[in-house]
Amino acid sequence: MRDVRGINVKLKNLVKTGVALSGLILASVMTVGGVSADQQSLTLAQVSEGFSAERTYQQSCAACHNSGAAGAPVFGNSEDWSARAEKGKETLYQNTINGYNNIMPPKGMCFTCSDDELKLVVDYILAESVES
Ligand code: HEC
Repeated sequence: MRDVRGINVKLKNLVKTGVALSGLILASVMTVGGVSADQQSLTLAQVSEGFSAERTYQQSCAACHNSGAAGAPVFGNSEDWSARAEKGKETLYQNTINGYNNIMPPKGMCFTCSDDELKLVVDYILAESVES
């Protein structure tokens, strides 16, 4: 009888270990899933849903960049924008995010725009302005 109980205890322990193990596996699967879910919401936060580079341009940048106010490179003017594009996109991105020459305002005055969104607006301007 003692032997049988002994086996029972061992069996119970085995079952417990099994439960703990599957719990552990489940936990790690959930962690892996959690990380990717977090990364997804991070991407969403950087470029919010329904973001439109064209609309943002019209709302925040057009006031200066349609008219060329204060020497702003004019939208659609390939001469103006090729000269800027020669500096490299990364420089244009940084000068948009941080502002430039004390006249181009930081973030182009789109204070709700994330850095990634501002980059998309710069891409949009270049695509519409620089001949490829
Ligand atoms: C208040 C006017 C104004 C607004 C608003 C504005 N800009 Fe500008 N921007 C300028 C002026 C002026 C320059 C030229 C500065 C110079 O070369 O001295 C400029 C230059 C730039 C450049 C070229 C920077 C470089 O390195 O040559 C980029 C890119 C740019 N603007 C993007 C944007 C974007 C994108 C927006 C909107 C999100 C925006 N701007 C809104 C006035 C403005």
